[in-house]
Amino acid sequence: MSHLRIAGRAVVLTGASRGIGLSIARELARRGAHLALVARQAEGLERCARQVRDEVPGCRTLVLPADVSDAAAIHDVVQRAAQHFGGLGGVVCNAGLAHPGYFEELPADVFERLCAVNYLGAVHTVRAALPHVQRGGFIALTSSVLGYMGAFGHTAYAGTKFALVGFAECLRQELLQREIHVAVLCPPDTDTPGFAVERAITPPETAALSANAGLMHADDVARRFLRALERRAFLINVNLSTAVFHRAHRWFPSLTRAVMDRMVLAAQQRSSRSRS
Ligand SMILES: NC(=O)c1ccc[n+]([C@@H]2O[C@H](COP(=O)([O-])OP(=O)(O)OC[C@H]3O[C@@H](n4cnc5c(N)ncnc54)[C@H](OP(=O)(O)O)[C@@H]3O)[C@@H](O)[C@H]2O)c1
Repeated sequence: MSHLRIAGRAVVLTGASRGIGLSIARELARRGAHLALVARQAEGLERCARQVRDEVPGCRTLVLPADVSDAAAIHDVVQRAAQHFGGLGGVVCNAGLAHPGYFEELPADVFERLCAVNYLGAVHTVRAALPHVQRGGFIALTSSVLGYMGAFGHTAYAGTKFALVGFAECLRQELLQREIHVAVLCPPDTDTPGFAVERAITPPETAALSANAGLMHADDVARRFLRALERRAFLINVNLSTAVFHRAHRWFPSLTRAVMDRMVLAAQQRSSRSRS
């Protein structure tokens, strides 16, 4: 099958103002896309738009502040994007947030907010955009490595990211005939403003699980994501260790769980030693 074409397409990108979304915006622009940029704060979007136009002067941008958890607001901005560009060539649902913590200490509204933004936000965006997505276009969703494996401290977040993978699996089949490609990006820990906020409240057991994994740069995540999207990949791991871990977890889940359990128990022993 031929490579997916990005050049000349108008792409709606949510969560565009910083972190992984900003890097995806720059990569899309370098590949010749025009951009409808969505996030809640207009200021960050304006900065993103200026940056991509400075880097790629031919890139057309449209700044559309909206909260993805507000179905009516997202419907409105997506209509404006489709009208402005005369249709859409792609959608990247990237807006999202994590909120780690011990399950018994996490209030119910954290679960509700993460579902509303991470999962339903993507559903609202896709629902609004699909009537305008041209044949040969694409829908991409940012999930996480926590979209295919669980980890201590992420009861609120992982459910939303697993949900995105399930949603994408189903949507992929429904859009086959329209030749709209569906992809789901599964980044590991990545150095972004959102990750810095998350890290400040991360339990020690959660931190121990990823202590040796390092942090990816958002530009590397975006570049590898776009390369894989162009090759029409479905589930996109952006480095070798997550690709290997994903396969290991699929084929030898008792082994990967045993490794993670040891890391969690060792972190808990360290914590109780330092408390006593
Ligand atoms: N960083 C990581 O380690 C990592 C790993 C795996 C997956 N991910 C996923 O990658 C995506 C981006 O993460 P990031 O680390 O780049 O986050 P980030 O630095 O916090 O950026 C989040 C972006 O989403 C926007 N946003 C947040 N809530 C929104 C809402 N309700 N409506 C519309 N826009 C909203 C933010 O702008 P406003 O605040 O102005 O709305 C911002 O543009 C998320 O889906 C995250 O779950 C991240």
